[in-house]
Amino acid sequence: MQASSKGSKSASSSARSSIRPATGKLGILTPGLGAVATTFIAGVESIRRGLSKPIGSLTQMATIRLGKRTDNRSPLIKDFIPLAELDDLVFGAWDPIADDALTAACKAGVLEQRHIEPLADFLREIKPMPAVFDNRYVTRLHGENVKRGKTKRDLAEQLRQDIRDFKTKHRLDRVVAVWCASTETYIKAGPQHATIEQFEKAMERNDDAIAPSMLYAWACIMEGVPYCNGAPNLAVDTPALMQLAIDRGVPISGKDFKTGQTWMKTVIAPGLKARMLGLAGWYSTNILGNRDGEVLDDPASFKTKEESKLSVLHTVLQPEIYPDLYKDFSHVVRINYYPPRGDNKEGWDNIDIFGWMGYPMQIKVNFLCRDSILAAPIVLDLALFSDFAQRAGLKGIQEWLSFYYKSPMAAPALQPEHDLFIQQTKLKNTLRHLMGEEQITHLGLEYYQS
Ligand SMILES: NC(=O)c1ccc[n+]([C@@H]2O[C@H](COP(=O)([O-])OP(=O)(O)OC[C@H]3O[C@@H](n4cnc5c(N)ncnc54)[C@H](O)[C@@H]3O)[C@@H](O)[C@H]2O)c1
Repeated sequence: MQASSKGSKSASSSARSSIRPATGKLGILTPGLGAVATTFIAGVESIRRGLSKPIGSLTQMATIRLGKRTDNRSPLIKDFIPLAELDDLVFGAWDPIADDALTAACKAGVLEQRHIEPLADFLREIKPMPAVFDNRYVTRLHGENVKRGKTKRDLAEQLRQDIRDFKTKHRLDRVVAVWCASTETYIKAGPQHATIEQFEKAMERNDDAIAPSMLYAWACIMEGVPYCNGAPNLAVDTPALMQLAIDRGVPISGKDFKTGQTWMKTVIAPGLKARMLGLAGWYSTNILGNRDGEVLDDPASFKTKEESKLSVLHTVLQPEIYPDLYKDFSHVVRINYYPPRGDNKEGWDNIDIFGWMGYPMQIKVNFLCRDSILAAPIVLDLALFSDFAQRAGLKGIQEWLSFYYKSPMAAPALQPEHDLFIQQTKLKNTLRHLMGEEQITHLGLEYYQS
């Protein structure tokens, strides 16, 4: 069916009219006011003042093709779907370290003083609310700006009150949350996470299996706030919270922003598979000197990260379908905390591949990236798209946002999709679908048939 046909036109206008407009102000709350969150907030303010461009953000810079290639319709995504305007964003955060966003940005060392100084007044006003924080889940950090409560449920109820107060204080229409806090120690989903009743009982008896990130997720969902999980810890990725999100009509997504090395993996591995080239091994190592690197230096937090990083290649390459190419490849990931590098991570990848008649070849990647510079536009896109999803009536896992995650959440019966290009197609087709436009299959035969 063509978008230009009469039937499709009315389908398209009815799809559009059922999406609530982005009126009023949108609050963006980040648990965590560290390197990623401050780089994100400072960047948005810098763009609003005309000092920077939103580089790396699909919501601000990408176009989307609509209809046939001969139609020449490729609007900007932000002109195609009703997204909140940057001028309508209001920021808030929780952090166990009481530094305001200006101090936190200076300490993070991502942005240069010449970029921070013009924004100093704005950043100074963003002060973190006391966090739900327990040093047993992030052993390398100690913070005093923390909430007190008898039970985990009490703490989560305080988070709910914070959300309501934030909304009232800033006269917000809607709120979304993006977890930008530290990676917690590894927790496997258990009976405490199976149903919402079990989850709530576990909060009440202070069960160790309920980590702070889960309390933020529960509080957000209860307040109707979409929740995006930028770290690899479970948080919303449990049956209990997935069900709660559906019951309360709240979009959720995760896990772990796909920024540097893993992003590269999801570009290169689909390329190898597309050419049916084999993989013998992939060795990845990183040196990183920011607070995230320090937290990940703890084996328990690193295990959470490692799980998230390791799953990528397996799912893209599908060794069970292509045993001759990908059975038993060796995949090693290391992160080494090395303070002199600060936020400017260096990653090395050695990729041992093989081709025709089994001849070995190697690819070396040396990526000198800036983690938070890559993560900041992801935070913006996730916030704006999740708000859009909610206004469009979507709820539960937003698989179309897999594009942004290392370890994408998917329905229990489904393999997550890791291939960056499939993820991009899924994202754009979801936008077309929600706006009543035809899907683009890239078949293209119609251009050659008379
Ligand atoms: N930078 C990237 O490219 C990237 C990529 C993927 C994932 N991540 C994840 O994003 C998160 C943030 O990264 P970062 O570089 O900003 O780290 P960071 O250490 O600079 O900031 C994290 C902040 O979270 C705070 N925090 C810890 N526990 C908290 C809690 N329970 N509630 C509220 N705040 C809490 C810390 O005090 C700190 O200020 C990390 O989990 C990291 O693994 C980052």
